[in-house]
Amino acid sequence: YVPPQGYLKRLREICDKHGILLIFDEVITGFGRLGTAFASDHYGVQPDMLNFAKAVTNGVIPLGGVVCTDRIYNAMMGAHGSAPDHAIEFFHGYTYSGHPVSCAAAIATLDLFREEKLFERAGEMGPVLGDAMHSALKGLPNVVGIRSYGLAAAVELAPLAGQPGKRAFDVFMDCYHRGVLVRNAGDNLVFAPPFIVERAHIETMVGTLADAIKRGQ
Ligand SMILES: Cc1ncc(COP(=O)(O)O)c(C=O)c1O
Repeated sequence: YVPPQGYLKRLREICDKHGILLIFDEVITGFGRLGTAFASDHYGVQPDMLNFAKAVTNGVIPLGGVVCTDRIYNAMMGAHGSAPDHAIEFFHGYTYSGHPVSCAAAIATLDLFREEKLFERAGEMGPVLGDAMHSALKGLPNVVGIRSYGLAAAVELAPLAGQPGKRAFDVFMDCYHRGVLVRNAGDNLVFAPPFIVERAHIETMVGTLADAIKRGQ
């Protein structure tokens, strides 16, 4: 769900006042989806920690990471590098830590993001997706909410009595059989298309979703 205007800034102030750490989960918003590198940049709010995954390798090779402030780093590692050389930052025994193929995929992805100005492109296509969702889905049966932000959008359906998630699952399957992959989450159907998406793709995606919702029970 999209935070109300000013919500994250206020949250930052409250956290600062009470000494609470603020963590942004940027697994979906990180690396361009809002038209900026991170949602943190978009909102002008700096968290204490930020985690990312998916887009850093274009979602094709598993890789995730955590970024933190100096304050947290120093608390873990000792200020001014006082920790011994063999100490490892945020040590945890991941089997695939620092996997060379994943890291190579991330470096190649970041190069393409820069060369093809894909963050800017995501920022431009976001309103195209948002407008398409609102105009095609508004007023359809069982639609209780439509929301979009950056190049991500969702429609929420009223749940079937006693079967939460079933209505959206059926719509997901209907779209799937017609060649459109939409993510179902509870009774929401969510689109977060690749940054190279074109207007014609968006029309097909949203049109197929609208038809499936109309056919649904
Ligand atoms: C916002 C968000 N955070 C975290 C995750 C889980 O990420 P991972 O599978 O890399 O742990 C997801 C997965 O879809 C997500 O959408």
